[in-house]
Amino acid sequence: MATLEIHDLHVSVEAENGAREILKGVDLTVKQGETHAIMGPNGSGKSTLAYSLAGHPKYTITGGTVTLDGEDVLEMSVDERARAGVFLAMQYPVEVPGVSVSNFLRTSATAVRGEAPKLRTWVKEVKEAMARLQMDPAFAERNVNEGFSGGEKKRHEILQLELLKPKIAILDETDSGLDVDALRIVSEGVNRVRESGEVGTLLITHYTRILRYIKPDFVHVFANGRIAESGGAELADQLEAEGYDKYVKGGATA
Ligand SMILES: Nc1ncnc2c1ncn2[C@@H]1O[C@H](COP(=O)(O)OP(=O)(O)OP(=O)(O)O)[C@@H](O)[C@H]1O
Ligand SMILES: [Mg+2]
Repeated sequence: MATLEIHDLHVSVEAENGAREILKGVDLTVKQGETHAIMGPNGSGKSTLAYSLAGHPKYTITGGTVTLDGEDVLEMSVDERARAGVFLAMQYPVEVPGVSVSNFLRTSATAVRGEAPKLRTWVKEVKEAMARLQMDPAFAERNVNEGFSGGEKKRHEILQLELLKPKIAILDETDSGLDVDALRIVSEGVNRVRESGEVGTLLITHYTRILRYIKPDFVHVFANGRIAESGGAELADQLEAEGYDKYVKGGATA
């Protein structure tokens, strides 16, 4: 049973006027098979948490621990984290000119699985995964995210999720910018991966609409760089109705 444990995590970024603390003591445990939704106002540090877990060099860990099955994640390089089973679908996926989607996917799968997937089964695997996400096969030959629409980028993130089968999937606003059909298709992709029972999912979102498709076991309110409240799925409805006012009062977000 894979377990991601975040304890009292503090993270800073280098700003013009010195280091600025963004995460101020995050505590969270995500177990394989569980889905945790994280909701919170703009600028509260949700993406910072996602990037810090994935190992983005811009973020400095100033305190706390992150372990995956007891192993120190913070000691691992970005690719070691990926091999250990941590996956991040980015809020703003980056363009990688000169690298085709098919090359990118095969290289990633080779790195994560520890051996190159057999070409014949691999081609079939990718084709089927793309078909399930209703992606035109022509995307395989395009450069990663180059000229992709917002929704196409998000589908490509979920394609990676399906092919790489991580232990912990962090999905940073995978739902934003999707039309109703794409939201359903992308959610179904996430649910296929969840149904294996082998992935712990951290779903960062602003909207309860994705939670109609992907039922969270826990909902956390993220405010001012930490989790301000945790509850069940009903908490999301309460947030939709009442907003974040009561969580941000008394602490500046800017
Ligand atoms: N390099 C940086 N320099 C200064 N401030 C930064 C830097 N990187 C992030 N921040 C600040 O950290 C705060 C948290 O940003 P983050 O992207 O984690 O928020 P978020 O909760 O994901 O917001 P959103 O809902 O808009 O995606 C913001 O106020 C942001 O401006
Ligand atoms: Mg964000």
